[in-house]
Amino acid sequence: MRIAFLPGDGIGPEVIRAAQSVLDAAAARFGFAYTTEWFDLGAERYLRSGETLPDREFARLRDEFDCILLGAFGDPRVPSNIHAKDILLGLRQRLDLYVNLRPVKLVDPRLCPLKGVAAGGVDMAIVRENTESVYVGIGGRFKPGTADEVAQSTMLSTRKGCDRLLRYAFELARTRRHQLVLCDKANAIEAAHGLWRLALKDIAKEFPDVRATTLYADVAAMRMVTHPHEFDVVVGDNMIGDILSDLAAALVGGLGLAPSSSTHPGVTALYEPVHGSAPDIVGTGKANPLAAILSLSMLLTDFGQPAAAAAVQAACERSVVELQCTPDLGGRLTTDQVAEWVAANLG
Ligand code: NAD
Ligand code: IPM
Ligand code: MN
Repeated sequence: MRIAFLPGDGIGPEVIRAAQSVLDAAAARFGFAYTTEWFDLGAERYLRSGETLPDREFARLRDEFDCILLGAFGDPRVPSNIHAKDILLGLRQRLDLYVNLRPVKLVDPRLCPLKGVAAGGVDMAIVRENTESVYVGIGGRFKPGTADEVAQSTMLSTRKGCDRLLRYAFELARTRRHQLVLCDKANAIEAAHGLWRLALKDIAKEFPDVRATTLYADVAAMRMVTHPHEFDVVVGDNMIGDILSDLAAALVGGLGLAPSSSTHPGVTALYEPVHGSAPDIVGTGKANPLAAILSLSMLLTDFGQPAAAAAVQAACERSVVELQCTPDLGGRLTTDQVAEWVAANLG
């Protein structure tokens, strides 16, 4: 297992350091081998040299690593966010990592802002398309800074993009509760989102054992709050999936607990917490490392270490239940102390 660490900005390095210490402990406990390398990419480097993701480093990540564990990108000193677009969206798009999987599970009822939801009462997998929609960067500004300014961002859907993501989501539903809901705005965005519904109709025929439905994304947002237990596999395009994944995370403890993977079979895979660089808490020790550590657990699952992955996940869940966690989850530990606790409790 050749792992590249891209800590990035803000709390990114804090949570990646925490994840690395858990990786070291898991490898010692479960006896697997790996190599790691830290990459200096992010706002500091951009401000120093103007470089974001140079081709040489991109090629190394693509050719010399099995997977990437990434912290977060975004820095108030780079208001254009250009480095984050080049690095984060650049990796997803240039590696064609079309599946962004974001599992959401309630492990302790105290973390759910809704009344009367038991542990496990929220258990869904958000499957977000990760390469298309309005994220493709097609468009631009015309007469910028004038009263006549025009701004255009094109929403792009391809049939290939819909089909491959839906097939992945249906396969996933087969390993879960056999339910899939496509969330879109096909009522307003007739072309780009209408294509998703056409694709769903066809692909669903290949999976008669999965109950496939559609919801408009605005209603989906409401129902996630009122009836979260109804959701199993949730499919959305790049933008809808992004928004619903933060909403869903808020139902189970917030961004500090939300992991993700971005994958394409046979290609360097990317694992990252759903949260950003949280400039408001950087350097305070308040950054919750569990989202990064749970992303590491997803990595271990995908790279042939299911026992280690399960132990890491179980330790994370226990740390939450036993209040061995950061203040966002009601605990009093620092980032590093949570990592130490998880590393010491791998079963
Ligand atoms: P954010 O996710 O960084 O923070 C939102 C809120 O959640 C903040 O109050 C923050 O303190 C809190 N939070 C986030 N992660 C936390 C953690 N691990 N532990 C405890 N609290 C946590 O979102 P934002 O403030 O909108 O964005 C900040 C920067 O991060 C922006 O530049 C944004 O573009 C970028 N961003 C990057 C990614 C990524 O790299 N994947 C994702 C989202 C946002
Ligand atoms: C995420 C983030 C990114 C996205 C931003 C930082 C561009 O919100 O990873 O969820 O929208 O994909
Ligand atoms: Mn997001």
